[in-house]
Amino acid sequence: MEASLLVIHGPNLNLLGKREPEIYGTTTLDLINEQINRRASQLGLQAQCIQTNYEGKIVDLLQEAAQDHQAVILNPAAYTHTSIAIRDAIAAIAIPVIEIHLSQISNREPFRHTSLTSPVCAGIISGFGAHGYLLAVEAAALLLQTNA
Ligand code: DQA
Repeated sequence: MEASLLVIHGPNLNLLGKREPEIYGTTTLDLINEQINRRASQLGLQAQCIQTNYEGKIVDLLQEAAQDHQAVILNPAAYTHTSIAIRDAIAAIAIPVIEIHLSQISNREPFRHTSLTSPVCAGIISGFGAHGYLLAVEAAALLLQTNA
């Protein structure tokens, strides 16, 4: 059976395309999800993409992820910088979590330089815009040692 990736997009990412395009680009979330699905299937993986604005929902999704998925790609958005609850949920689960940001967070306002979540993630991809999601799918494929 194909390995499955859960892709979690955090708060405000539903606005991609019109949200601060000079920082986050003009690609919509629907298009990003289409591209993720295409790249995943090229690599012999399935992807399920979900967006939520709620911190507790991200915790629930992480806790349940291992039931149906072998890896998680997570853009925690602003919760990256604030959420011990999401960090603890990542630490609590046995499958790898890849953190992704469209922007280069270490090159922005000082409050974005700290990621509470990345120390418990398998790795972080930041600064490559929407393309970063495809790099994250490739990283997941490598971690899962599919035919990448
Ligand atoms: C973001 C970076 C965060 O600092 C910000 O709060 C976001 C998006 C990114 O993808 O670049 O909402 O995670």
